[in-house]
Amino acid sequence: MAVRIDVVTLFPEFVRQCAAFGVTGRAVERDLLRLEAWNPRDYAEGGYRRVDDSVCGGGPGMVMLIEPLRRTLAAAHQAAPEAAPVIYLSPQGKRLTQDKVRQLASLPRMILLCGRYEGIDERLIEHEVDEELSIGDYVLSGGELAAAVLIDAIGRLQEGALGDAQSAEQDSFSDGLLDCPHYTRPVSHGFGEVPAILLSGDHAAIARWRRREALGRTWQRRPDLLDALALDVEDQRLLEEFKREHKGHTHEQDH
Ligand code: ADE
Repeated sequence: MAVRIDVVTLFPEFVRQCAAFGVTGRAVERDLLRLEAWNPRDYAEGGYRRVDDSVCGGGPGMVMLIEPLRRTLAAAHQAAPEAAPVIYLSPQGKRLTQDKVRQLASLPRMILLCGRYEGIDERLIEHEVDEELSIGDYVLSGGELAAAVLIDAIGRLQEGALGDAQSAEQDSFSDGLLDCPHYTRPVSHGFGEVPAILLSGDHAAIARWRRREALGRTWQRRPDLLDALALDVEDQRLLEEFKREHKGHTHEQDH
């Protein structure tokens, strides 16, 4: 399955660049991801091709007009037969998670709406937007970077986008935990040694070590993620082992 993502943006070149590099670029090359950009300025009227106006009620900044966006969205909807949910990227949206990314990655199509200035006239959002998503609790100057984040996260989950050596199943968050640490050669370096167990060839012991480190790091850095999981007896045992080993060895464990 492939996905088509139409992006409504005043900076179409920015979106096209998303498709130029790395895994996302390869997904586009392999027809697993199709990206199209739509510029509301092309659907604006008058000599100035106005896309924004001042905020009602006074105050600084500009708000994106309803009509150019409505026409742009209509054109984007009509460009392919599949129904496409419209997703507006904004700090007011629900926080994006890997679960949400997985859900979106299974759709054939979606339209991403990027705002600029103070945002978009609320009536356009009420009538045309299916879902509002935020990539985190900070404010960007526009939705394009957030759209790029979403495109990357969705593109890499398309089957065949990742190389053989990579696997989405091994990702952080795929099981609700942070990833374990990774090492490569040289085994011995001035910065330290690769943990001996990783060189043991004992695959079961290595898998156990990785699980323990993933549990331990999640406990140290993101206890909120652990709270959301029901750990089985083996995981609880591994985490206890990690905690015992790290007592007094970390400044991060004061919870
Ligand atoms: N646009 C501006 N800030 C944003 C954020 N944090 N997430 C998504 N879209 C945005």
